[in-house]
Amino acid sequence: MAILVTGGAGFIGSHTCVELLNAGYEVVVLDNLCNSSEKALERVKELTGKDLKFYKGDILDRDILKKVFSENKIESCIHFAGLKAVGESVEKPWEYYENNIAGTLTLVDEMRKNGCKNIIFSSSATVYGNPAEIPITENCPKGQCTNPYGWTKSMLEQILSDIQKADNEWNVVLLRYFNPIGAHPSGRIGDNPNGIPNNLMPYITQVAVGKLKELGVFGNDYDTPDGTGVRDYIHVVDLALGHVAALKKIEEKAGLKIYNLGTGVGYSVLDIVKNFEEANGIKIPYQIKPRRAGDVATCYSDATLAKEELGWTAKYGIKEMCADSWRWQKNNPNGFED
Ligand code: NAD
Ligand code: UFG
Repeated sequence: MAILVTGGAGFIGSHTCVELLNAGYEVVVLDNLCNSSEKALERVKELTGKDLKFYKGDILDRDILKKVFSENKIESCIHFAGLKAVGESVEKPWEYYENNIAGTLTLVDEMRKNGCKNIIFSSSATVYGNPAEIPITENCPKGQCTNPYGWTKSMLEQILSDIQKADNEWNVVLLRYFNPIGAHPSGRIGDNPNGIPNNLMPYITQVAVGKLKELGVFGNDYDTPDGTGVRDYIHVVDLALGHVAALKKIEEKAGLKIYNLGTGVGYSVLDIVKNFEEANGIKIPYQIKPRRAGDVATCYSDATLAKEELGWTAKYGIKEMCADSWRWQKNNPNGFED
């Protein structure tokens, strides 16, 4: 029996493949490589000393899905495949709804036709909108998303929940990630954004490596201890291990479950700059800029439920997240390109 990992060549997917292989699972990856490189999968094999099966293809393509299901005995699917750039989703809403929503509907339809009714879905803390409570528990009501990307996550949570309610043979685990950063401690795989990064940590590492001049800090007048935005940064290896824990829950016939995957600790933008500088001995020049549209002041999790029900907690601290992000960037200044 194998685990189908859609989007397995991407940032979180590749780290999850490592942990799945280390835990003894058979892994089948389906990825169209629209935001990733097959080299990541070569490195996953190198890191684990184990093999995985790769299909280059799209979750919207029924033929490739039929081929994957007919050629493998798929027990569960971990579904990472999706477009994730917040700004781009505002410019190209149709493309985001088509890829993320129609793509997931197609995947889920082929899953059920092939008797596979176990799915772990990559959701996001973005579904809480401007959170009604801090720290955020899973009981916090979902909020208004500020962009089409966020709405795809919120809508897909609803769609997958409705499918599970209508047919209780389905086991659906919705994982709401907070802010994944860091990289595999080997420095062999990591985040590899196209163009100028939108997210804080890859921006910082590209300043550190000399590709970008300085960090722009988006606002210092929020109602937070130092005025800059506070987030719950989580090491990508911890996040990957959260998926292995969720898979165990699926195997126990979970029904419908929702978990926050975060550390429960909030750091401001300036905390991150300071920790990066201390962990790596590199100065990060920055300038305060206006607030970025759609940002909330504070967003961090209460991760108690995942601890109680999955036996999972984040183990890596902020210094390790900063050191591992930097090791990846320093060793691979051009990502997976030679
Ligand atoms: P990523 O872009 O590195 O990985 C996504 C992968 O999916 C890529 O390899 C891409 O090529 C593939 N893909 C996209 N559309 C596809 C399609 N139609 N068919 C097949 N493959 C397709 O992103 P990531 O950071 O690893 O994120 C993984 C998932 O987690 C995404 O669904 C994302 O929205 C979600 N998520 C990410 C974050 C974050 O900050 N990184 C936070 C919350 C949720
Ligand atoms: N920030 C800067 N400068 C930058 C980039 C970010 O000051 O160049 C600040 C932001 O204003 C925010 C913090 O750093 O206060 C974190 O920003 P990110 O863009 O790294 O992350 P977000 O919290 O905005 O969003 C991330 C993912 C989304 C996901 C969301 C909630 O990018 O996909 O977390 O899970 F939806």
